[in-house]
Amino acid sequence: SLPMSLLILAAYLLGSLSFAVIVSKTMGLADPRTYGSNNPGATNVLRSGNKKAAALTLLGDALKGWLAVFAAQQLAPLLGLGDAGSIPYTQAIAAVAIAVTIGHMWPIFFKFKGGKGVATAAGILLALNVWLGLATLAIWIFVAKVLKISSLSALIAAVFSPLLTLWLMPNQPIYLGAVTVIAILLIHRHKQNIIGLMQGKESKIGDKTKP
Ligand code: G3P
Repeated sequence: SLPMSLLILAAYLLGSLSFAVIVSKTMGLADPRTYGSNNPGATNVLRSGNKKAAALTLLGDALKGWLAVFAAQQLAPLLGLGDAGSIPYTQAIAAVAIAVTIGHMWPIFFKFKGGKGVATAAGILLALNVWLGLATLAIWIFVAKVLKISSLSALIAAVFSPLLTLWLMPNQPIYLGAVTVIAILLIHRHKQNIIGLMQGKESKIGDKTKP
């Protein structure tokens, strides 16, 4: 339907705002695509040594994921996509969640070279279900505290996210499908990190360089 297509397009465009690039440019810092892992994400911006820029990147990328889903939740009923819980509503929210993720990973404004989707997925999950968001975040934080590797924390949290969805959003196969798709995309975007992990070459959170 037209309203559904418009929501998806808006979410894709919102996702395409790469806050790593925008924040770095605004603060007069180097382009994160030119150092470290070359990834436009908060973890890599932190390698510049600028914690404020990294925090703003994390916040911006998470906020856009949250906002895309939250706005769709508010707009879907007004656009005739049914009330919360109806199938078209649920499909619209699920599609928007995937679209904002795809925008972040393959942004139209940045030659389709985007990030890995960790912060954006956190925002999406928080908007879908606050307990799902917090539980997934708790796994990321726990693994990060213990192992101090950002990519591995994200990969483990991603693997758990569909299970947490089954638990915290039971009997909602469309949301389960969306979370699973997002987790698979996120893992796919961490291909280089998985190779680095197997070679023991992933840098620790806060290290200024990536070996
Ligand atoms: O935020 C993405 C993170 O999981 C990995 O980033 O720069 O270490 O490849 P990076």
